[in-house]
Amino acid sequence: MFDPYPFARPFLHRLDPEDAHAVTLRALEANVVPGQPRDVDPILETTLFGRRLSNPVGLAAGFDKNGRVFERMGTHGFGFVEVGGVTPKPQAGNPRPRVFRLPEDGAVINRMGFPNGGAEVLEGRLRAKRRPDDLGLGINLASNADSADPAADFVALASRFAPYADYLTLDVSCPNTVNGLEFLDPERLADLLARLAAIAWPVRPALVAKLSPDIDDSLLQRMVAVLLEARIDGIIVANTTRARPPLRSSYAREAGGLSGLPLFARSTAMLARVRELAGPALMLIGVGGITSGADAYAKIRAGATAVQLYTGLVYGGTALVTRIKRELGALLRRDGFAGVAEAAGAGTSASPAVL
Ligand SMILES: Cc1cc2nc3c(=O)[nH]c(=O)nc-3n(C[C@H](O)[C@H](O)[C@H](O)COP(=O)(O)O)c2cc1C
Repeated sequence: MFDPYPFARPFLHRLDPEDAHAVTLRALEANVVPGQPRDVDPILETTLFGRRLSNPVGLAAGFDKNGRVFERMGTHGFGFVEVGGVTPKPQAGNPRPRVFRLPEDGAVINRMGFPNGGAEVLEGRLRAKRRPDDLGLGINLASNADSADPAADFVALASRFAPYADYLTLDVSCPNTVNGLEFLDPERLADLLARLAAIAWPVRPALVAKLSPDIDDSLLQRMVAVLLEARIDGIIVANTTRARPPLRSSYAREAGGLSGLPLFARSTAMLARVRELAGPALMLIGVGGITSGADAYAKIRAGATAVQLYTGLVYGGTALVTRIKRELGALLRRDGFAGVAEAAGAGTSASPAVL
């Protein structure tokens, strides 16, 4: 299959990363990006919060913040997509430049600070578009940077977006805003979850928390305990990191969250730890530095029932999604697994997750 990305990439990578992203979104909207082969491999079929998906590979939050192209992502190979982060009011985010490519490291640093068009704009798009039945949808929720009551922002967003998604993500791990870090305090997190539990849902959505890789084991234990106590439906591991493992790029010292290859080991180890702490039944989504089927498989064996990626696309384009799926299918077969659910957690002491 013809892959145009090796030709498009030099052009895109001459642009500022955010401009390149804007061009990419426009190309996706205009439907001029060739779709990926419609592979059907039953071994990859899986269920995510009640929705049957063709595969467990998702587009991570931050790529389609305003819901401009989510309905097309099945065509580009994904089994599910997470739109957002969305905040109640529109916000501009931090001053530019705020996104940096680190090609020597297969990484990106961003300190965007949730620029987005706000809840009304996203809701308008969710209402206007039809997504295919086999494309899962998550909505990533965040509080406004100037909000006096970040928990109230989450409650308002959750009530508003519940009808549209298979799951809602509480982004309690953004390293780029003060409010993004507020819920690293387990008491505040417990209070937020209690306020969400008090919503009179017509239909309660699946609620998922996205964790930061920058917390130590004792805080992780306390946060997971609070989440389990509140009957959270899933956990996403992990957001970008403020840590700086050794990097080659001259942008290494830029402030912000690091994603891509250097995040893989830390986020996968953390995932295995969360599986251990949360037990076998909780849905875990593994994200951080995935660039191959072997990486996706490692996350699944560490406990994930689905995976997501973003930074890998910056360097590999959407053909990477097809490569990941094909390799993952081959690895599952090699090891005698009937499917993703059976392999989930097989590499840890916890028994496989039952979906
Ligand atoms: C430019 C950029 C913007 C992002 N925006 C968000 C966001 O709004 N909400 C969120 O939860 N994560 C956001 N993320 C984090 C990703 O969803 C993901 O957790 C992280 O990048 C690790 O995955 P990766 O190594 O495959 O990129 C963003 C990442 C990048 C690179």
